[in-house]
Amino acid sequence: MRTIWWDVTANTVKMIDQRRLPLALETAEYDDYRAVAEAIATMVIRGAPAIGAAGGYGMALAARQSQAKTPRDLLADLETAKAVLDAARPTAVNLTWSTERVLRRARQSNHPEVRKVANVVLAEAEHIADEDVEINRRLGAHGAAIIPIVPDGANILHHCNTGSLATVDYGTALGVVRAAVEQGKQVHVWVDETRPRLQGARLTAWELMRDGIPMTLIADNAAGHLMRTGQVDVVLFGADRVAANGDVANKIGSYKLAVCAQENGIPCYSVVPTSTIDLGLPNGDAIPIEERGWEEVACFGGTQVAPDGVPVYNPAFDVTPHRYLTGIITEEGICYPPFGQSLRQAKERAEERIRKHEA
Ligand code: MRU
Repeated sequence: MRTIWWDVTANTVKMIDQRRLPLALETAEYDDYRAVAEAIATMVIRGAPAIGAAGGYGMALAARQSQAKTPRDLLADLETAKAVLDAARPTAVNLTWSTERVLRRARQSNHPEVRKVANVVLAEAEHIADEDVEINRRLGAHGAAIIPIVPDGANILHHCNTGSLATVDYGTALGVVRAAVEQGKQVHVWVDETRPRLQGARLTAWELMRDGIPMTLIADNAAGHLMRTGQVDVVLFGADRVAANGDVANKIGSYKLAVCAQENGIPCYSVVPTSTIDLGLPNGDAIPIEERGWEEVACFGGTQVAPDGVPVYNPAFDVTPHRYLTGIITEEGICYPPFGQSLRQAKERAEERIRKHEA
């Protein structure tokens, strides 16, 4: 099951509408890049790698929509589209990474014909999406090694949704879980509900139950109790951006889990494709943290539960300082401290792979 794909007949982008899951499995369809930006902002599609793929396909739509008569004018239209798409959500660096990659490919193409440049843009967007699935399988294989073999199954505490739905397919932290299961390891996943948007309760529970992977849904507030009472072997979550020193920004609540894991001697890993690593930022303080609307906190299931006019603060992500992480699992292997060095090496290997593809 892919989360997002290009419809070759209609020349549109299709994606699973994640706002409707698990009650309905519906597809949204877009023929306008601005509507894709809106879909990212309103979380029809969410999860850093999936947002990246959506950015690439948004650029492909922009190339189709453009009325440009020359490649130079098309590039100008693509730059405008990139700015609109990049502004949709600020924390996941995968979005700008992807739109930049597509734009670079368009610039390099040097085709005199506008239509051919548009084809290059679409091909690169397709490549980014296909590559995401392959990357997730690779990082899953690396990460499965850290899942301990425990007689009744390793208890994994997982936050938010990092599965097929957060990527193009397979997942990052949930990709590690899937790979461990494929290797025959016994696992059980404690699924954090993940307030306020309930990505754990709605999306992760749905994915794991479809796959028949043993899981139990918990209220976010139960995680500390489970760790202190010896019911968690490893904590896994994804990230929307990893700074050069290994600080990671992920769904709000991740920091609390990491601190609690260290207090209880439990290993804690962030699982990311190298596209989530932003070597341009020295540490987590430089990562932009998205703030979302009051209704996500003050309402539950569409019903307002807090008083009218209640002041709300709703940061969507937090930063986990690198000292709380045992390792950062990537498709290029597991990065261990000192992260400054290991992340740079992983990123260099990935960039070399991209250069070969572009050559
Ligand atoms: O606000 P969301 O649902 O887009 O947040 C998603 C997360 O925080 C994920 O953990 C992260 O993007 C990694 S997904 C592979």
